[in-house]
Amino acid sequence: MALQAATQKMVAEFDYPASDVNKGVKEFLREMDEGLGETGTTMSQIPTYVTAVPNGKEKGLYLAVDLGGTNFRVCSIMLKGDTTFSLVQSKVAIPKELMVAKTSQELFSFLAKQIELFLEKHHNDHFEATVRRRRTASASEGYKDQEYFQLGFTFSFPVQQVGINKGYLIRWTKGFDIKDTVGKDVCSLLQDEINALQLPVKVAALVNDTVGTLMARSYTSPNRTSTLLGAIFGTGTNGAYVEKLDQVKKLSIGESSKDYDQTTGDMIINTEWGSFDNHLSALPNTPYDDALDKESNNPGIQMFEKRISGMFLGEILRRALLVLANNTEAAFCSDVDSSKNDIRSTASIGPNSTLYKQWGLDTSFLSVVVGDTTPTLKIVRQALEKDLDIDAASYEDAVTVKALAYAVGRRAARLSAVAIGAIVLKSHRLETDDVIDVGVDGSLVEYYPNFEEMIREALREIPEIGPMGERKIQIGIAKDGSGVGAALIAWSAAQRYSGSSDESNEAETPSDPTNPASNANVDTVADPNRRPSLGQKIKHSFRRSISGLLGKNDNEASPST
Ligand code: BGC
Repeated sequence: MALQAATQKMVAEFDYPASDVNKGVKEFLREMDEGLGETGTTMSQIPTYVTAVPNGKEKGLYLAVDLGGTNFRVCSIMLKGDTTFSLVQSKVAIPKELMVAKTSQELFSFLAKQIELFLEKHHNDHFEATVRRRRTASASEGYKDQEYFQLGFTFSFPVQQVGINKGYLIRWTKGFDIKDTVGKDVCSLLQDEINALQLPVKVAALVNDTVGTLMARSYTSPNRTSTLLGAIFGTGTNGAYVEKLDQVKKLSIGESSKDYDQTTGDMIINTEWGSFDNHLSALPNTPYDDALDKESNNPGIQMFEKRISGMFLGEILRRALLVLANNTEAAFCSDVDSSKNDIRSTASIGPNSTLYKQWGLDTSFLSVVVGDTTPTLKIVRQALEKDLDIDAASYEDAVTVKALAYAVGRRAARLSAVAIGAIVLKSHRLETDDVIDVGVDGSLVEYYPNFEEMIREALREIPEIGPMGERKIQIGIAKDGSGVGAALIAWSAAQRYSGSSDESNEAETPSDPTNPASNANVDTVADPNRRPSLGQKIKHSFRRSISGLLGKNDNEASPST
């Protein structure tokens, strides 16, 4: 009984009622406007300079790399010129020590090395040809631009972007902490290391993962609907959306050069909503949130992200469970004798349990536990044993763990609705459109049971949206969209550099590209032609929806923007 009462009390601490959701939406809208007007605000609202419009006929082989919170992915994407593509990719976990390396060079040389390995493995013909050419090339001649792969660099951290392939790191997030990188142009850091390896690769575009997700979702979205928002709910959280250029007031007060296409009237904005309400005027705050933040490597920063994303939810739950374990009256996982335990044993927490260690509980634990529908909660108990070295947990203990894991996840989903709801309202599309498309990606939205449904429930509680508006909001997974999105943006950038009006863009392709689809030794090959639903959607919607995304119709789409 004591445990039940203590659990209920704790679960209530994670309540985030409708009134708070609405307060959150108002503050979110205020911070969005503030961020569009000036720099240095809580929510950065970073202009991405993505306004160029691919027209669906582009051809060429592009590289894309993605430095996320956990993995580094390298992929090549063959745009086939008929609006289909093939993609080859490989992925490595980022070594923990590199996330907190002493110098940027340690991290970026590792990244360049992975690109080299990828080219060697998957594009050996081109790699070899380039190596041979390099040996014979005269120093003065150098390389011709055509010899280069154009690379889209998905860098999933806050960057002050000042051009399509230039951006200075504002701060690290998600456990990265390399002081020396802050304030530096991350494209140059990568390019320098690529050059040191003499690789034929040009970093052509800098892309946040949310922007890539938005681009990719936009051309695969059902019913040719242009996408409003790309959002990540994974290790970190963030969103990028389509904003009217005239709303981005800080651009007109000299934040940037005017070196971007203004004809579309729109620009994609990377909100960096992880830092929404760092001053906690509207966000919920429990003792567990507070302790997590104070002991993190960036206290006071990314406060929204610290309540929503995969990097943090396990840690919030761990801290809550630890408080319960230390409450002798509650007797969590500590039976006086076996009569108190439904499996006639006595529960115990191993002395080396990671329950006692910071970051000792992975967020995947929450998904597993919440998904357990067995009558005896045996999956919860297995997970307790495996992940936390808790032996013979009773049914009551398991009920507690499931209830708390649910409460933490539900609050995260309802907070996510604040961001999505505010952006939908700001766009005014509810007034005009039948469908408002949102592309999402990330482990939480993919694996936490009913995450989307819980978001929807909260969206209905926002009076300006309500059940009618909520039904118009279409949320779809854009799995690994950042790769294709980055390639598309690299394509657009390459067009601009060359000033080419050649629709096929063959001048931008490497001279002898290997076709990834024909390479048998690949880590993964995704060919839309082999996946009818995705393939068909791409076929029909690539040109229109990218155009729509950027506010142009097909006839206006210009390949040379
Ligand atoms: C970063 C964002 C990124 C998000 C999702 C956050 O920590 O600040 O730039 O988009 O994680 O990966």
